Amino acid sequence: MLQVTHLQTEYRNNPLGLDTKAPRLGWRLKSDHTNVMQHAYQVQSSADETFKDVIWDSGKVESDQSQRIRYDGTELKSMERIYWRVKVWSNQEESEFSLPVFFETGLFEISDWKAKWIEPEGEVDPDAYKPAPYLRKEFTVKKGLVSAKAYMTSKGLYHFYINGEEGTDTLFNPGFTSYHKRLQYQAYDVTHLLQEGNNAIGVILGDGWWRGSTGAASLKNNFGYKLAFLGQLVLSYQDGSQDFIGSDESFKTSHGPILKSDMKAGEFVDARIKLNGWNQPDYDDSTWKSVTVTDDGFDNLIGTRSVPVKRKERFAPEILKTPNGETVLDFGQNIFGWVEMKVQGKAGTEVTLIHGEALDKEGNFTLQNLIVHGTLEDFQEVHYILGGGSEESYSPLFAAFGFRYVLLKNYPGEARPENFTAVAIYSDMEETGDFTCSNPLINQLVSNTRWSQKGNFMEIPTDCPTRERAGWTGDAQLYSRTASDFMNVYTFFEKWMADVAAEQFANGSVGSTVPNVLGLHNPVEYERFIQRNNDPLMATLVSSKPGEAGMLDGSAGWGDVAVILPWTMYLCYGDKNILEQQFDSAKAWVDYMSSNARTSNEHYKDTPAYQNDTDGELDSAYIWDTKFHWGEWLEADFDFGDLGEEYFGKQMTLSDPLVATAYYAYSVRLLSEMAAILGKIEDKEKYGKLYEKIKRVYNHYFIPDNGHILNDRQAPNVRTLAFDLANEDKKQAIADRLAELVKEKEYHLNTGFLSTPFILDVLAENGHQEAAFRLLEQDTCPSWLYAITKGATTIWESWKGVTPDGELAGSLNHYAYGSVCDFLFAGVAGIRPVIERPGYKHFLIKPIQGGTLTHASAKYESLYGTIKSSWEKTDDGVNYRILVPENTTATIMLPGTLDSIDKLSKEFNDVQYENGRAIFEVGSGEYNLTLEG
Ligand code: BGC
Repeated sequence: MLQVTHLQTEYRNNPLGLDTKAPRLGWRLKSDHTNVMQHAYQVQSSADETFKDVIWDSGKVESDQSQRIRYDGTELKSMERIYWRVKVWSNQEESEFSLPVFFETGLFEISDWKAKWIEPEGEVDPDAYKPAPYLRKEFTVKKGLVSAKAYMTSKGLYHFYINGEEGTDTLFNPGFTSYHKRLQYQAYDVTHLLQEGNNAIGVILGDGWWRGSTGAASLKNNFGYKLAFLGQLVLSYQDGSQDFIGSDESFKTSHGPILKSDMKAGEFVDARIKLNGWNQPDYDDSTWKSVTVTDDGFDNLIGTRSVPVKRKERFAPEILKTPNGETVLDFGQNIFGWVEMKVQGKAGTEVTLIHGEALDKEGNFTLQNLIVHGTLEDFQEVHYILGGGSEESYSPLFAAFGFRYVLLKNYPGEARPENFTAVAIYSDMEETGDFTCSNPLINQLVSNTRWSQKGNFMEIPTDCPTRERAGWTGDAQLYSRTASDFMNVYTFFEKWMADVAAEQFANGSVGSTVPNVLGLHNPVEYERFIQRNNDPLMATLVSSKPGEAGMLDGSAGWGDVAVILPWTMYLCYGDKNILEQQFDSAKAWVDYMSSNARTSNEHYKDTPAYQNDTDGELDSAYIWDTKFHWGEWLEADFDFGDLGEEYFGKQMTLSDPLVATAYYAYSVRLLSEMAAILGKIEDKEKYGKLYEKIKRVYNHYFIPDNGHILNDRQAPNVRTLAFDLANEDKKQAIADRLAELVKEKEYHLNTGFLSTPFILDVLAENGHQEAAFRLLEQDTCPSWLYAITKGATTIWESWKGVTPDGELAGSLNHYAYGSVCDFLFAGVAGIRPVIERPGYKHFLIKPIQGGTLTHASAKYESLYGTIKSSWEKTDDGVNYRILVPENTTATIMLPGTLDSIDKLSKEFNDVQYENGRAIFEVGSGEYNLTLEG
């Protein structure tokens, strides 16, 4: 039987508040047959579930496309609910119509906003922490209410309540975007919370990313000084009439128990301040103040594109008494989130929870690995002053932390595990991937990587959930492929990439962090910062005029996020939308690199090689040898102690031509390929030619015949092969030299952020499979598994996060090095997307065996359904089990001898043999085969 399942609109289930007029529809096929391909589909839409009146009927459309079908009915209006359903024809069967799903549009027109922006605060002291403003209003609901929708946003964060109930279980709304250009509003169905007669709406605002501490330097007031709220309820009645309850001068404001709410510093709550019933009807708000209505506009408002942030896994602690006598809660897993605490004691008792990632070598709680800039007086702290009386429950509203351990101070009575629960918090993306194998340390590495992803994918991809919490573009770019193995990150990145483009500087440079937290968006605060900051290094490093690139922006490998990330998302999900959305930004970044490359660095002007003239053009015009770059970043022999003025000075004057030119070439090539996919023929050719020139120059200057690239380290060899920058005749020498360099280090890594994702793949693909597995299974420092032997539960920022003698260095929750996991999915298990039919519509199964592994198994939940690939060494050879979902095809490439072809040919058509692998194509179904090894 053929069924259609998993219907989604804009990759979401029954979404509300869509602000696109042509949403993308997608579905999956389910069948008990094999070789199932969709041949045609028919979509119908209707204003109600009965489909009595069909408002759009696509008719039977011959197509194998089951994802990204654009809604093409009558023009959508604001606040409209549309039901849709689909039936499909496969090559063998015809389905019934699916069960219907729906979507609802948001507010397309500015005039749809009947509410006004309101500010609860008067004058504010920009330097002081401020209490969280509470807002409230009562209103009447008439008889015959059919539906009630809420549309809300804020400057700062908001929580809202109707008649005392939370309006949503999603957190950290309205999310983090480049607020001045793109401020998201959320839509909620609140019908069930309302009652006929008197009702109340209550809102609490928190500092959030708007004005709370952000980034390495904990800059405050990044977007503005004052919090504000905008929200409206739309009540629809049986008789067709509608009421609007919008934020306006009738709202009242006061303060409550939250005295301070800062995402990094933490939350300070005095529960003696009671506002019982403040968010319910019939509350006496006569002492509350009025709010100020502002004329802030609506131009920057967009319907939410965030994957909602939610409370996820929960952990119980072990209670430790550390050698110095302190009480420490150990939750066993490093996470981003908060602690739900139950407590009973005398009013006025102040309980403190300080959140950290590690114990020091004596076994005492420490924050020493996380503090870089002493601009925060508190860091990851919760202070809760008891209201007294019966048991109280508390967890923060507007702050969350990176932690495994919590230092507990002044808890009344005995601290018992059942009184504390750690809750992991992140953007609620679908988990798509899993990998297991016979080496348990590798399985823990998979778990650690997944947890670093969970710990860092809250609204934006952050470097770490502690020290900086910044959307470092390099980290996100290099990890994006692995991110897509573990979770469906398409919409998460589609949203964030729009901010990358929105924050791109006029000269095409792309920020090191997005939204920018190395600089300030708020011009007044920028002036204040410059005047107050008399440390010139700090001023150059941290600050750039709003809208202008700072010294640290536009770095090779970081700015390339503009090209590489959309490309990776297209490869993994097949959605051209991200290429269309990002193309101009990608092109502006590439043009920025070109103009940089054409500028020569004084320092190299006497290098004869740079003066080489081919076809009347100086080759130096294709070498990017100017400006600051982060470079390979944190190679194993790099020490955090080296990160002083000298490092920055050197990177500024000498630049990093080897890294920068490689990224220049790579991004230019991808841009040309993007242009081809989008049918932009001129750009395809222009950048295609440019790529050839850069590649020629790169080969000429950087790759000697013996394959010892310039400084003869692992990273440049990896990069050159991964980006396919070497001429054919040089490739093997580069790979062989890389293998030697790895061997010289006794199979230890010396790559940093930029090359680590590729090292195993380039070794394995270039004849050094065993070296790849020895590196993968290495467990002494520096290696991936070393951290596991030290009890890590997430990926460390530095290879030496905890040294063999217990010294701590850097954050312990940085996903970058976890990028090796793509080698497990795409290499060891061999599940690989292909750019010609992206998004796993067609894919490869090309497993690699080696090391001590006797079996490996991966699962990937694609948009079409579950893909599985596993292998196991048995007495008869290697047994493979492969699952190919409906409406996809796969090319299977299994290592084997020539004899295996005969065997396979009995079952499969057209089996080929190439480079030691038997190669054949299959359609959907489950395959179980054994080949002699
Ligand atoms: C961050 C990164 C980032 C780097 C830039 C660090 O402070 O934590 O992960 O990419 O700076 O090199």
